[in-house]
Amino acid sequence: MFASPALPIILVAMLHLTLSNIAATSYPDFQLLNAKQTLIETKRLRPLETSEYHKLPNVSESDQGNWKLKLVHRDRLSSNNTNAVHDHSRRFHARMQRDVKRVASLLLRFSGGGSHDGEAVYELNDFGSDVVSGMDQGSGEYFVRIGVGSPPRNQYMVIDSGSDIVWVQCQPCDECYRQSDPVFDPADSATYAGVSCSSSVCYRIENPGCHAGRCRYEVMYGDGSYTKGTLAFETLTFGRTVVKNVAIGCGHINRGMFIGAAGLLGLGGGSMSLVGQLGGQTGGAFSYCLVSRGTDASGSLVFGRGAMPVGAAWIPLLRNPQAPSFYYVGLSGLGVGGIRVPVSEDIFQLTELGNGGVVMDTGTAVTRFPTLAYNALRDAFIAQTANLPRASGVSIFDTCYNLSEFVSVRVPTMSFYFSGGPILTLPASNFLIPVDDVGTFCFAFAASASGLSIIGNIQQEGIQISFDGANGFVGFGPNVC
Ligand SMILES: *[C@@H]1O[C@H](CO)[C@@H](O)[C@H](O)[C@H]1NC(C)=O
Ligand SMILES: *[C@@H]1O[C@H](CO)[C@@H](O)[C@H](O)[C@H]1NC(C)=O
Ligand SMILES: *[C@@H]1O[C@H](CO)[C@@H](O)[C@H](O)[C@H]1NC(C)=O
Repeated sequence: MFASPALPIILVAMLHLTLSNIAATSYPDFQLLNAKQTLIETKRLRPLETSEYHKLPNVSESDQGNWKLKLVHRDRLSSNNTNAVHDHSRRFHARMQRDVKRVASLLLRFSGGGSHDGEAVYELNDFGSDVVSGMDQGSGEYFVRIGVGSPPRNQYMVIDSGSDIVWVQCQPCDECYRQSDPVFDPADSATYAGVSCSSSVCYRIENPGCHAGRCRYEVMYGDGSYTKGTLAFETLTFGRTVVKNVAIGCGHINRGMFIGAAGLLGLGGGSMSLVGQLGGQTGGAFSYCLVSRGTDASGSLVFGRGAMPVGAAWIPLLRNPQAPSFYYVGLSGLGVGGIRVPVSEDIFQLTELGNGGVVMDTGTAVTRFPTLAYNALRDAFIAQTANLPRASGVSIFDTCYNLSEFVSVRVPTMSFYFSGGPILTLPASNFLIPVDDVGTFCFAFAASASGLSIIGNIQQEGIQISFDGANGFVGFGPNVC
């Protein structure tokens, strides 16, 4: 077996992974948040010009047949609205608005669109009061650029760890939203081949249809966006790596959601996601580093067994037959300042009926916990930050601080206690984030309106995260990035 879950202590820079049974005291209880520097970097954030992004090397070719793509946060992609891009507060509010929609749509998927076992049905309005208006923000947090067809046409794709299909907008467009590259035209591709209705591939997608002998697909997202079209085999190019016969949705009717990007690259746990289709070629293995906000660095997405880092702390992936796309992990508790928050382990449990549990999601920004757990976590954090001046709540956050007068502040660490022992202690910048340009920082967690917990991308930033689908493990570290 490849993964080795039993590892000794790993301590890297701000990322601290330990095994509690060895040394619960070997990670810090407090750390410094450089408030001033964070603000300076936030203000300095400069979106990439599209041409600039194109000039970045697509890939850093590495050994062992794995291939690496640059991952860019949408805030770094040039937008038509330059004012919004340069204003951190507006960017932040837009991101929270997308996040509320993302979480609402995830919860809808879990609840089958209605109430489920007495769980609260999520209302979009629950968090809506402080959120900016305008529904045209589009979703998708991280983008990669890949080539579609032969010759390859470069397109931006949203990556989504909770999705099991790869699709792009296609000509002829009955309905397409605006994207930054020309819409892919299968007539210009030598390798495009529609999937026939009788193909077994057609039955691996949800709700397949058949039209003129060709397999039709249809994906509806919880917020009302959708993509519909033809399922086809096509060649995808990742830098210099060419992958033939990937089943992709060629979407002729699309409403989005995915503004700017041509489509979506599903990295979920199901057989039709890119990871699932690569199967043998990469052994279900991929690894990513989400870029830190406020830095000009880009992140990376690497496929292949060779991408699995040596020295990561591995924890088992759990499967929920009700939601096979999602990567679940076992969480037993939370810690603040090295002290375990008083919540029952049961609150994070994935039940036999498929309720509750903890998913890792690239598309959700802010980590959500069931209300009881969130309240306990927040109260513990507040109790240990009594010396810091508070500010009123902002957007979905109820715990904020006015750090405008501080160069740096000492804050308690926040840790995830994973089932089986590993503890992931987050850098302060992953849980105390700037929400404007004047020094308001908020504790970046929120309550979930259901039993589901979601580990969001703000908390994952800067930490190398590796999925070993074949062996059923997710690894944290050892690198910061
Ligand atoms: C990126 O990939 C495209 C093809 O997908 C290629 O034409 C281009 O030269 C590559 N750019 C770099 C900098 O490698
Ligand atoms: C901005 O959007 C308008 C229409 O919405 C378009 O005509 C214009 O070309 C866009 N500008 C840039 C720089 O993308
Ligand atoms: C933050 O504190 C500074 C200095 O005490 C004050 O001038 C400023 O108004 C405060 N900001 C907010 C949003 O309360």
